Amino acid sequence: MSASRVALVTCGSIPELNDDDHPLLAELWCLGIEAEPAVWDDPAVDWGSYDAAVIRSAWDYHLTPAAFPAWLARLEALGLPIWNPAPVVRANLDKSYLKELEAAGVKIAPTEWVKRGAAANLDEILAARGWDDAVVKPAVSAGAFRTSRVRRGREDGQAALDDALAHADAMIQPFLPEIETEGEWSFVFLGGEFSHAVLKSPRAGDFRVQQEHGGRTERREPPPGLLIQARDAAIAGPRPWLYARVDGVRRGGELLVVELELIEPFLFLSYAPGAAKSFAAAIKARLSNPRPSPRT
Ligand SMILES: Nc1ncnc2c1ncn2[C@@H]1O[C@H](COP(=O)(O)OP(=O)(O)O)[C@@H](O)[C@H]1O
Ligand SMILES: [Mg+2]
Repeated sequence: MSASRVALVTCGSIPELNDDDHPLLAELWCLGIEAEPAVWDDPAVDWGSYDAAVIRSAWDYHLTPAAFPAWLARLEALGLPIWNPAPVVRANLDKSYLKELEAAGVKIAPTEWVKRGAAANLDEILAARGWDDAVVKPAVSAGAFRTSRVRRGREDGQAALDDALAHADAMIQPFLPEIETEGEWSFVFLGGEFSHAVLKSPRAGDFRVQQEHGGRTERREPPPGLLIQARDAAIAGPRPWLYARVDGVRRGGELLVVELELIEPFLFLSYAPGAAKSFAAAIKARLSNPRPSPRT
């Protein structure tokens, strides 16, 4: 039997994957799997030549919100196993999934949801909620795209909300000071199991923790109570998944979930020795049994 071929799905600006995923590529080859990067919207990619596609750094999907689901549908029509599975990815495209997590008992950051095109007045919303310092972000987003810190009584906040609403539904949340003090936790789950956690902090004067915005990341052993809550959040979302990342802040000893990433999370593999190896093993296990298990 010939070796399995796996596409590690990336975007055109990093066609060779991001550095953090390189160990995964190597570990897959060690297991006899021919893994290679493939750019999701590159028309030259022959998706039918692969045995599976694992979405990694498709970090531009939110810029073309119709093209990405169309690409998912094409892969499904080919019968190509995709991880995470297309229905899970679809359910995670719009952050309104947070409402379902909340209904399932997960503590999420307080959020005011505003429909696209609505004539929403930011100051009125902030006054009604009693929030002076807040964050406006699109419901379909990645990498802090169109994400702004706003303050009650300042005009630039309304412009930020209008800008977000021109493109998608928007979310308004109180500014979480924990992002600046302790940082934002990310809990990484691979193959159904907890793998590792990191703590991410913004650079001075910013609130975005992403490395591309100057943020710092450190691996940390998570407080056990927080880990249990992160696991509950990962399990409360759509399943089955191969990988999941739960982001949130610690408040009063509890995790306040900001995001459950099931599409293309940065997995901080290079921060945790052995993580890339176990991720590769989990992919191999799914190649021999591609039928998703509802237990994952
Ligand atoms: N309520 C908030 N308070 C403070 N900072 C926030 C808040 N929401 C988001 N941020 C900051 O903006 C970043 C991006 O927001 P997030 O909800 O994670 O969306 P995405 O990662 O999909 O762009 C977060 O990592 C964090 O640094
Ligand atoms: Mg995020």
